[in-house]
Amino acid sequence: MTKSRIAAVDVGNDSIKAIFGELEYELNIPNITARDTEDRPVIGIEELDTKNPLEGIHIKVHSPALKENNVIYRVGQLAAKSDNATELDPGSSKSEEDQTLVMLFASLALDAVKEENAQLFPRTKNVIDAQYTLGTGLPLREVKEGKDAGYRSKLVSSVHQVEFLVTPKYQGLKVNIKFQEVKVYPEGFAAYINLVMDNNLKIINKDLIDKRILIQDIGGLSTDIAVIKNRNVDDDKAQGFNLGVSESLEAIREEIRKKHGVELDSRRDVVEIITRKNDRNHIMVKGSRTSVHDITDRILLELAKKQYRLLRNVWQKNSQTEICYFVGGGAHVLKDYLKTINNNLDGYNIEFFEDDKESIWMMANAYYKLIMDYVRKSEKSKADKQPVKN
Ligand SMILES: Nc1ncnc2c1ncn2[C@@H]1O[C@H](COP(=O)(O)OP(=O)(O)OP(=O)(O)O)[C@@H](O)[C@H]1O
Ligand SMILES: [Mg+2]
Repeated sequence: MTKSRIAAVDVGNDSIKAIFGELEYELNIPNITARDTEDRPVIGIEELDTKNPLEGIHIKVHSPALKENNVIYRVGQLAAKSDNATELDPGSSKSEEDQTLVMLFASLALDAVKEENAQLFPRTKNVIDAQYTLGTGLPLREVKEGKDAGYRSKLVSSVHQVEFLVTPKYQGLKVNIKFQEVKVYPEGFAAYINLVMDNNLKIINKDLIDKRILIQDIGGLSTDIAVIKNRNVDDDKAQGFNLGVSESLEAIREEIRKKHGVELDSRRDVVEIITRKNDRNHIMVKGSRTSVHDITDRILLELAKKQYRLLRNVWQKNSQTEICYFVGGGAHVLKDYLKTINNNLDGYNIEFFEDDKESIWMMANAYYKLIMDYVRKSEKSKADKQPVKN
């Protein structure tokens, strides 16, 4: 029997974060897909051997879990460059979109094909049989609606195949993905687990565990506020909003283009300019160092005010809250603005993470802790049931 590998995957609206095995491999892929045809004409054979596979993910996905089976997609960076790219729509349900599954399967397949895993997963010619124990999540809203069960059973009940087409290094390989087990956690709860527990689910934050806390997760397209009480998520109080940072990053990019005639490649470049240690909020214009502080300040302050209003609203409805943690990539970008607004206005007890990585990988880390714990416990109960041999 094929051994099962651990995978913890956060399918964010902006990007996928995945952690594998004994923490030895991590993936972060933009959540963008574009339909394509069999023979993507771009790169020559030589280039295929040398280019980074992550920059050229081109796959055909076979799975009964999909609404549309056997479709060919460009994924991630490669999809971003095409003109028919689709990103998740904030109003949609993650659990019901083919795009969620395509991204999930693509990330697992990219792990499975790695040479380091050749020992683990049997290969016959160009087909790899992979098996995973998956920890993942859905927005609280979807879990409340009971969509987690259907999502889980779609995954566990069949074999899913990712076929690499014109992808550097992996062209022609097929990965069959089976799940030994799938756990679907609610996103807000997962963030709480990550705050209070370590990798062995030992409590690391005694002070926090019994407090009433809010977790405001500012993502690319959406913001979720989880309410934690009695060591649990209060389902009725949790709220999701269709407000993220992507739009503001796009607006900054557009204004820089208009005012300075400088075309930045992506929102990622904007993030870099507004968060880097040295020369923050400056760009080069025809070789001269130029401030764009006026633009970034205005747009980010506007968004921070909106985010602050959301916080105020939820805090008012949960007046006995003791602390709010800001997480997600958006928290990193808006940190200084939110702190300033808070100092000038209500003075809530709010907290941020120093490290942007911690903030962005919060959910994936939590799923990892939870799925590891599940595996350890089920191995232990199996061992307990074995008759003692001596
Ligand atoms: N250090 C960073 N690296 C990459 N992106 C960052 C960073 N800091 C902030 N961002 C930006 O933060 C935004 C949100 O990122 P995050 O990964 O939290 O969203 P997501 O979880 O994919 O989306 P959602 O929560 O809406 O499903 C993105 O637009 C991203 O560009
Ligand atoms: Mg997120």
